[in-house]
Amino acid sequence: MRRDKSLYLLALVAIMFLVFITSSITSVEGRKHNVNKGKPRKHRKDKNNKGNGASHSSPAPGPLPGYDYHPTGSNIFDVLSFGAKGDGVSDDSKALLAAWKAACKVPEATVEIPSEFKFLVKPITLQGPCMPNLVFQIDGALLAPPKVGSWPKSSLFQWLNFKWIQNFTIQGTGVVDGQGSQWWTPSDQIYYIQKKFKHIPNRKPTALRFYSSYNVTVRDIKIINSPQCHLKFDSSGGIKVNNITISSPESSPNTDGIHLQNTRDVEILYSNIGCGDDCVSIQTGCSNVHIHHINCGPGHGISLGGLGKDKSVACVSDIVVEKISLLNTLAGVRIKTWQGGMGSVKNVSFSNIQVSDVKVPIIIDQYYCDKNVCKNQTGAVAISGVKYDQIIGTYSVQPVHLACSNDIPCTDVDLIDIQLKPSLRYRGFHQALCWNSYGKSQAPLLPSSIDSCLRRDGGSVKRIARSRENVCF
Ligand SMILES: *[C@@H]1O[C@H](CO)[C@@H](O)[C@H](O)[C@H]1NC(C)=O
Ligand SMILES: *[C@@H]1O[C@H](CO)[C@@H](O)[C@H](O)[C@H]1NC(C)=O
Ligand SMILES: *[C@@H]1O[C@H](CO)[C@@H](O)[C@H](O)[C@H]1NC(C)=O
Ligand SMILES: *[C@@H]1O[C@H](CO)[C@@H](O)[C@H](O)[C@H]1NC(C)=O
Ligand SMILES: *[C@@H]1O[C@H](CO)[C@@H](O)[C@H](O)[C@H]1NC(C)=O
Repeated sequence: MRRDKSLYLLALVAIMFLVFITSSITSVEGRKHNVNKGKPRKHRKDKNNKGNGASHSSPAPGPLPGYDYHPTGSNIFDVLSFGAKGDGVSDDSKALLAAWKAACKVPEATVEIPSEFKFLVKPITLQGPCMPNLVFQIDGALLAPPKVGSWPKSSLFQWLNFKWIQNFTIQGTGVVDGQGSQWWTPSDQIYYIQKKFKHIPNRKPTALRFYSSYNVTVRDIKIINSPQCHLKFDSSGGIKVNNITISSPESSPNTDGIHLQNTRDVEILYSNIGCGDDCVSIQTGCSNVHIHHINCGPGHGISLGGLGKDKSVACVSDIVVEKISLLNTLAGVRIKTWQGGMGSVKNVSFSNIQVSDVKVPIIIDQYYCDKNVCKNQTGAVAISGVKYDQIIGTYSVQPVHLACSNDIPCTDVDLIDIQLKPSLRYRGFHQALCWNSYGKSQAPLLPSSIDSCLRRDGGSVKRIARSRENVCF
């Protein structure tokens, strides 16, 4: 009797198990189906995804071994169907991670952040490698934790961390909001964080960071109010940033717009950047960077550096910055290096730069120091081949400030067609300053002091400079 009963129970359990399995399979299929229902989302993706020149007319590639590929299934992975609430208050990190992981396995997939929803997301890493041509479609809002104290103590470096991805596009009409205001003002919470993490003083998170990623396009979206830097590319290449808006208040400290480090083959175009620090900051290890059609301001302008801090080696080359408009910024186009560094900055071109009420439009500062006084050091990052062509508009402090190292002069600095007038807020020096800078100038030049500012190139000077560049091969 007893044995019969337990057999009966066992059968019941088995049946329940089968029912459970079947229903969960149908619900997954239903979920996928729902996502596509009534909305031509796939079509829209095809129209918008011009990021990496992938061809959509050819049939989709076949499944790769080991990947969970559904040729007839949807390739849209909407965070809402992965359990996100989208109310701006609930923590939707897990849902976003789940959507990312699922999409990552499918070629040509899209992770969708739908419009009219707000998703609060804690610091997360969205990691590859993924199948090719993944799109992160941001039409709604992504919100960072607003309270400094609610950031996990281990994640103060960045909020959304993209790592090891290739052939990837972020696009959409939505907004990435770092909700950083608490980080900008000295508050009890900041004090608490800094007390706890003495080894990383003043550490504040970057909003979007790419690490070791290639062929990445970021387009159309808005990135606002980051605690610190808004968009950072580190150890990456093949980067395109097109038609984005970056915005945070002028009073927000250290909020860089776009920050590049160890990154090559970059194009940044048709974007509006206004923040409390550099609009674009180019750091060591960057080459072949093309920046054009950018509006910058408020902020500190377009910067190379600070390079060579703590006697480090810095190598930056082949930079083109053109067709830029700067309004009410600290600097226009600037190269800043710390005393005592090594390496070189070479082949840099700034042209067609419009400045309005910019404190100092043209700066080379090889005595860069973020404190009141820095120790004098010997040696410097060698600067050569910097061309300024058509820098036009108004300044409020000084038109040109080229302060090159005492040890290594700047060479092949060309000033061509510079026309700078004092603005209404002018308080400063009309004279152009050139210290240990060699090169040539070419009319028109305004103020006329620019004409006699540079020293003419001497061969021996160039040899000194060149002997210091070797570390960058
Ligand atoms: C990225 O796309 C390019 C061109 O479409 C292709 O040649 C390359 O193999 C792709 N790489 C990856 C990792 O998908
Ligand atoms: C990047 O794209 C280029 C051209 O589209 C392609 O040749 C290259 O293989 C891609 N690189 C990677 C790492 O996918
Ligand atoms: C630029 O981005 C906005 C969305 O922020 C979009 O409406 C507009 O069409 C984009 N412009 C181009 C030329 O792609
Ligand atoms: C300088 O940089 C530009 C832009 O990257 C590049 O086209 C050019 O070949 C470089 N010139 C030299 C001499 O390396
Ligand atoms: C560094 O050198 C400059 C010029 O030689 C001098 O005016 C300045 O006082 C020195 N600064 C320090 C901190 O030694």
